[in-house]
Amino acid sequence: MSDVTFRPARADDAEQIRWALYEALAWHPERELPPPEVTLEHPEAARYHRDWGRPGDFGVIAAAGDEVVGVAYCRLFTADDHGHGYVDEKTPEVAVAVRDGWRGTGAGTRLLKELASVARERGFRRLSLSVDRANPAAGLYERLGYRHLHVDESGMRMLLDLEGP
Ligand SMILES: CC(C)(COP(=O)(O)OP(=O)(O)OC[C@H]1O[C@@H](n2cnc3c(N)ncnc32)[C@H](O)[C@@H]1OP(=O)(O)O)[C@@H](O)C(=O)NCCC(=O)NCCS
Repeated sequence: MSDVTFRPARADDAEQIRWALYEALAWHPERELPPPEVTLEHPEAARYHRDWGRPGDFGVIAAAGDEVVGVAYCRLFTADDHGHGYVDEKTPEVAVAVRDGWRGTGAGTRLLKELASVARERGFRRLSLSVDRANPAAGLYERLGYRHLHVDESGMRMLLDLEGP
């Protein structure tokens, strides 16, 4: 992890955002999804990456040399157009992925902490996300202070309060 650097995501990082979203959706090692070009065009997925760089989008990219090894990003949604992690129009929804081979080395923790600090700087008070109940990432979110908001068959909605210590 010592050779990993972190930088803000830019408007021209759309490919990295799409990669992270696909990895997050395809988290289950035994559940194969259609390829990215199919999965990411589904309306449920497209709303999380289309027109990346619009107002309210922000993120953090982890890189080892020229290789992107992880991405955490946020997007705002509206009451009329949102996914499972939605709380309200002022609460950005988080997605995160670390490249296989780099997982378990602390990059995800660092990405999520950096993302929370960017969100705080931008004046947001909370972050939300949605995670499958069986995904071990839920333990990581809990460790970082996310609390459970809602649980149903499609997963768990979690919320991080950014105003705490
Ligand atoms: C979830 C993820 C971003 C965490 O990044 P990471 O760099 O592996 O995280 P860290 O090394 O900082 O911390 C490891 C934690 O992630 C959890 N984790 C989830 N999937 C993991 C994996 N494949 N390998 C290692 N750790 C994993 C571990 O259980 C550990 O949690 P704990 O601290 O409660 O024990 C990364 O594992 C990943 O990309 N997974 C696939 C995509 C995904 O599930 N995204 C989230 C969708 S909601």
